[in-house]
Amino acid sequence: MNSIKKIGVLTSGGDAPGMNAAIRAVVRTAIHNDIKVVGIKRGYEGLINGEFKEMDASSVSSIMYRGGTALLTARCPEMTTEEGQKKAAGIYKVLGLDALIVIGGDGSLHGAQALKKFDVNVMGIPGTIDLDLDCTEYTIGFDTAVNTGMDAINKIRDTSCSHERCSIVEVMGRNAGFIALWCGITGGAEEVLIPEKSDIDNDAVVKQILENRCQGKTHNLIIVAEGIGGSQELAKHIESVTGIQTRATILGHLQRGGIPTALDRMRASMMGYNAVKALIEGKKNRVMVYRDGHYDDLDLDEALAYKRGYDNTSYEILKILAI
Ligand code: ADP
Ligand code: F6P
Repeated sequence: MNSIKKIGVLTSGGDAPGMNAAIRAVVRTAIHNDIKVVGIKRGYEGLINGEFKEMDASSVSSIMYRGGTALLTARCPEMTTEEGQKKAAGIYKVLGLDALIVIGGDGSLHGAQALKKFDVNVMGIPGTIDLDLDCTEYTIGFDTAVNTGMDAINKIRDTSCSHERCSIVEVMGRNAGFIALWCGITGGAEEVLIPEKSDIDNDAVVKQILENRCQGKTHNLIIVAEGIGGSQELAKHIESVTGIQTRATILGHLQRGGIPTALDRMRASMMGYNAVKALIEGKKNRVMVYRDGHYDDLDLDEALAYKRGYDNTSYEILKILAI
């Protein structure tokens, strides 16, 4: 017997391509199971301010094909305070919700964890281009962001190659180097600077470039994660020490938009569907994950406490493939 009659859904933190597929899946799976759905606008900010709209099947028509989030999103400092959390939980009760589906990254899921203390039944769906949630091997938006980065790198490579230059490409990822590593391997970079590794300084990069030139490379590609930053300074340093013309490109927020890939649409759809099914099965305070090739759900506290640790394998492979 399904005790879930009405649910809320919100997107929070940085938007990610594929979030719309998750919203669509949540809304349509709920309606299919006679559950009412309320879309909360602007993440926790909208929850605290009571900004919502009743959703029907047509409210999510034609959204899956677009990046961003149809529900809008925000960073909401008030939600990190107990007062803000109480207000948010109060609106949840006023709306008569039986559960709240939160689509967002690590911060957003910590917000969900905070709401749990006030008797809110939360269901998390990992949505962030950064892939910086240790409990899951997939987060919504990562695949599109990497494809966007790779596409930009392909174009930069054309001009870099023609001018025999060194190119530095800075990609997103404040605390995590996954986007940088994937862009590095798929873009054929010689070096990747990521927050997880602090053992590569500017001189090591210069040495690598010179060695590669001696080996016959006529142009160079270095990927820098946003969390490391300083791409323009690195470019100046390389040019002044080596004499090799060097240009830095910071891709920035263009990696967060764009038409979601098939993988992001597929996984986001499955996670949205699974989130509602889990609620119908009576599960509480869970987070959807993708691990070892399977969709699953984990206890929210355990999921957020889980630490995978940094694995250097991808970096080592990148270095081998770049010789
Ligand atoms: P993301 O979800 O993409 O990691 P943020 O880290 O900016 O993005 O988090 C999104 C929002 O989640 C924050 O603006 C805030 O409202 C809420 N949030 C983040 N951390 C916490 C926390 N520890 N407790 C409560 N709410 C939080
Ligand atoms: O959503 C993740 C992310 O894009 C990070 O890669 C980046 O550090 C951050 O968000 C940027 O946030 P904002 O859009 O607030 O500048």
